[in-house]
Amino acid sequence: MSEFPSFPPDFAFGVATSAYQIEGAVSEDGRGPSIWDTFCRRPGAVLDGGDGTTACDHYHRHREDVALLADLGVDTYRFSVAWPRVQPTGSGAANPQGLDFYSRLVDDLLATGITPAVTLYHWDLPQALEDAGGWRVRDTAARFADYTALVADALADRVPRWITLNEPWCSAFLGHAGGEHAPGVRLGTPALAAAHHLLVGHGLSMGALRAAGVREAGIALNLTHVSAATGRPEDRAAAVRAETQRNLMWTEPLLRARYPATETDTWEELIEREDFRRAGDLDLVSAPMDFLGINYYTPSVVRAAPYQEPHPDRRHAMDNRFTDAPVPGARRTAMDWPVVPGTLHSLLTSLHRRYGPALPPVHITENGSAEHDVPAPDGTVRDTDRIDYLRDHLGAVADAIADGVDVRGHYVWSLLDNFEWSYGYERRFGIVHVDYRTQRRTPKASYHWYRRLIAEARTVA
Ligand code: NOJ
Repeated sequence: MSEFPSFPPDFAFGVATSAYQIEGAVSEDGRGPSIWDTFCRRPGAVLDGGDGTTACDHYHRHREDVALLADLGVDTYRFSVAWPRVQPTGSGAANPQGLDFYSRLVDDLLATGITPAVTLYHWDLPQALEDAGGWRVRDTAARFADYTALVADALADRVPRWITLNEPWCSAFLGHAGGEHAPGVRLGTPALAAAHHLLVGHGLSMGALRAAGVREAGIALNLTHVSAATGRPEDRAAAVRAETQRNLMWTEPLLRARYPATETDTWEELIEREDFRRAGDLDLVSAPMDFLGINYYTPSVVRAAPYQEPHPDRRHAMDNRFTDAPVPGARRTAMDWPVVPGTLHSLLTSLHRRYGPALPPVHITENGSAEHDVPAPDGTVRDTDRIDYLRDHLGAVADAIADGVDVRGHYVWSLLDNFEWSYGYERRFGIVHVDYRTQRRTPKASYHWYRRLIAEARTVA
């Protein structure tokens, strides 16, 4: 009996990264500033005061990183294109040096037999677009479509798989209600407008990808498995609110061309005042996708919480009438996220039941854990907790496939330790350790474990 879960022969094993988290070189070759460059300068915005100025210096070390991918033996590598490298101010002609970097990366990946999967927007909005209203204004969606066309024109001849947006929930709600992500707006109200414009941007971007001949396109959502902490009616109502905001707010418009029926309860009167939604938008938003990307880390167990006034104008978009409850018996990662791998199986089977044939094939576009990695004197890292995390979540995916869910691939987050947004460099998700002083990369035990899993899957196939 193998120590590894088993998968269909054509299942894609991958790893994922994103531009701002690994590239560095923020002022090189014509790259313009992004909202994350600006946000990181705000005192207190990032836990350790870090930013993406150097990060993993991947911009200069991409050859070494591709060699790590080749040695790992992954089928596919998901990375993101930095919009401000391609359009330094978010509109107008492409900066050829920005596109060249990604074009060379794609060639290097293909030369080693790795399929590139490109994310177009992993949170680094050009600052000039933020200055003009960011995702709070509709024009940004149109700019996103123009940018998509430029990137697709340069890369679609060689890149088969495309992801429009990464985790729009974070861009909308953490960026505009909670304020812990760029652009750090805390008013709340604009978050619903941002959510809608992100979805419209996704729809327009899908159109630009189709025009470039792309046949594998989708979005990456951070869906969670929601349950109520107790059977009390108020906790059950809290779970409905959490499910609406975290999951249905995205899957319903994308897969069924409607906003969720529970939306009005979740956002009360706010939703009635909205003027940002236009006739025909939902047809655009629900353009057929070839796959649904799901980023999965941890479940949400919620209980009711008293409503708290977030701002004097009473209007809010971050529904705060629910809060996380303890998950008894679950280990917690260095992010303090409870580990309950079976919930990934439950999420996948419940989506399959809810959407039936309207659910496209699924890719788990991110899954992984930050752990308290302590390098031994020789620099090696025995990250057994991360190995357990990955084995059990891959097992949950295999179980979901056995139960009839069409899951085509899984990407470990992340290849490298990197800049974990508002947590800075103190949370390490990599299967490769990065010493930020020297930029030395050292594969962790989880890298070697994943390498054996992939090799064995190939042998069986
Ligand atoms: C989701 C995001 O897409 C990625 O950028 C982040 O580093 C991981 N989750 C871990 O929080």
